[in-house]
Formats: sequence, C-alpha cells, structure tokens
Amino acid sequence: MSLSPDIITALKNRLVETINATTDEQSLEALRVIALGKKGEVSDLMKNLGKMSADDKKTYGPLLNSLKQDIAVAIEDKKQILADLALEARLEIEHLDITLPCYPAPKGGIHPVSQVTNEVIDIFADLGFKLAEGPEIESEDYNFTKLNIPENHPARQMHDTFYFPKQDNGTRPLLRTHTSPVQVRTMLNEKPPIRIIAPGKTYRCDSDMTHTPMFHQIEGLVIEENINLGHLRYTLEYFCKKFFEIDNIELRFRPSFFPFTEPSMEVDVRCDRSKDVLKIGTGNDWLEILGSGMVHPNVLENCGLDPKQVQGFAFGMGIDRLAMLKYGMPDLRAFFDADNRWLSHYNFNPIAA
Ligand code: DAH
Repeated sequence: MSLSPDIITALKNRLVETINATTDEQSLEALRVIALGKKGEVSDLMKNLGKMSADDKKTYGPLLNSLKQDIAVAIEDKKQILADLALEARLEIEHLDITLPCYPAPKGGIHPVSQVTNEVIDIFADLGFKLAEGPEIESEDYNFTKLNIPENHPARQMHDTFYFPKQDNGTRPLLRTHTSPVQVRTMLNEKPPIRIIAPGKTYRCDSDMTHTPMFHQIEGLVIEENINLGHLRYTLEYFCKKFFEIDNIELRFRPSFFPFTEPSMEVDVRCDRSKDVLKIGTGNDWLEILGSGMVHPNVLENCGLDPKQVQGFAFGMGIDRLAMLKYGMPDLRAFFDADNRWLSHYNFNPIAA
C-alpha cells in the first residue's frame, strides 16, 4: 500500500466519524480494537514505517503518531460522553422524593403546659430573668417557715399540704405547695442582683374543674437595690401584653394578703364574660391571673439579706390556668388525663413552636 498524507487524513476522518456515531461503550471498545489494536487499521499503517526511507520516516512518523494520538483522544472523549449519558439516564429513573411524608406520620406534639411554660420563660428572659429550679419534695422550712408562714399560721392549713411521714430528725418533708420556696433557695445561694423565673410542678390536696392535685406554677423574683412597686407594675404589665398578645391590656392591682409579701396584690386583667366565650382585653369584668407583692422584710432576713440594703418584688401564677385562659380550654382535669383525642386537638406543633 502506498501511503500518502491524504490517506492518513481520510482514515482519521472516517474513524473519528464512526467513533462519534457510537452509542454504547461496547461498540466503542470494539472500535478501539479495530483502530488501535495490534492488528488494527492504525497499526497497519504504522507497519509501513519500517520500509520507508529516512526522509519519508521524518514526514510520516509524526503524522502517524498524531493520528494514533488523535484517535485515542477521540475514543477517550466519547467514553466520557457515554458515561455521562449513562449516569444521567440512571439519575432520571433512580430518584428519591424526600418531600414525601414519612410513614407512619409523627403523632407527637407539645403539651399546652410545656408550650405556655416556654412562652412565659421567653418573655421574662427578654427582661433579663434567668431560669431557676427547685425540688418538688421540699422542707417545711423552705416551703413555709422562711417564707414568713410560721407553724400554726392559718396559711399552712389553706395549702392542703401532702406531707411525708416524720423523719428521724423530726422534720416533715412535703410536696411543695407552691414554687415560692425557689425564692428562698435562690436568696440563700446567690447574691443580689437577682432576677429569676422558676417554673415547676406543685401539689395540693384538691380536685375539681379548676383544681388538680398536681398543677404547675411559675414564680418570679427580683432582688436589687432600690426596687419599688413601679418596677413590679411595669414588669407584670409588660408580661401580660406579650403573653396575651394584646397591646392595650388593662390590669387591676387589688390589695390582697400573702405572708411573704408586704404590700401584697392580686392582679386582674380586664375581660368580657357577657357571651359564652371569655374575651381578654375588653369588657366590664375582671379576671384574676396572679399574686404578687414586695418581698416581706422578714423573708429577706430569713434568707440572710438586709432589708435596708436590698428590696425586691415577687409574683406567682398558675401555668395551667394561664394556658386555659389563653387557649380557651374549659376543664383543667383534661390536661392530665392523657386522652389522645384531647392531646391531638390541643397540642402544639414542635416545629412551629
Ligand atoms: N405562692 C402563692 C400561691 O401559691 C403565689 C404567690 C403570690 C407567689 C404572691 C408570690 C407572690 O411570689 O409574691 O398562691
């Protein structure tokens, strides 16, 4: 066979065209053998080099080498194109729709008590209150005595306390009847300025539409220099506005009595009960929502603080009651029945919460 540059170009064009026209990896491999294999077309042409003059070798050597090179590159390129196409085709059929709901659908939700507790904590956190906790089994000393409720004080009877048997050391532990002992614990352990909010379970021997033996309270305490009733009033108004999401909410501070505060006040919100539903923020009625007052000097002294140096205010409210008011739940007992229908109706979405 007599070799010419045209033959080389023609072979190259034909091979590249065939390579480009292949549609699968097997045919491409077969083509590679036909073109570049030991007995392939390019190798056949290469064999001519042996018989050539030195001059021809100089011309045809580089031409044939670049032919070999070009074909090898064309095959590699095509291989990549075919691999990409194969991957695309696979992705087209093998896809996972992660937007589909999982099965079975999740059933859990946030209980209204947890929801409201978190709402209250969040509001007070914005005012710089930090979270405090205390045990549910308390001493008489912290639950009553240090809070200025001495033995035989009528307030002890009013609390319908669950007592544990008398201990060998003469003390009588109890299930705390309110979250106020957390005030005592905080004052004994920390130095003013103090700003805490203390939610938790409390217990009294009582049960009807609005009382359960276990219920939840949240306690607030502020102890600093120069604290006065104005601070108490501002704080509680701020809280009620945020909690009930009503900007022009109206509060009434009604004189009351708690042994641990002086003066003591109960706080009512303006509401409307003329129709079947309770509406907070308007109307001619008042609804009690919390107890509060300036911390009694005896309590400060019982907790190692000097009433001439620091003053404070405190407040306590029922979380369950707040939940009933805000979300319109009529019967407190249902809160703790673990009835799935009630729970799925009143619970809160954990993701939106
Ligand atoms: N501990 C009171 C109760 O359970 C509520 C309370 C009233 C707490 C006034 C306070 C307060 O801190 O200042 O009824």
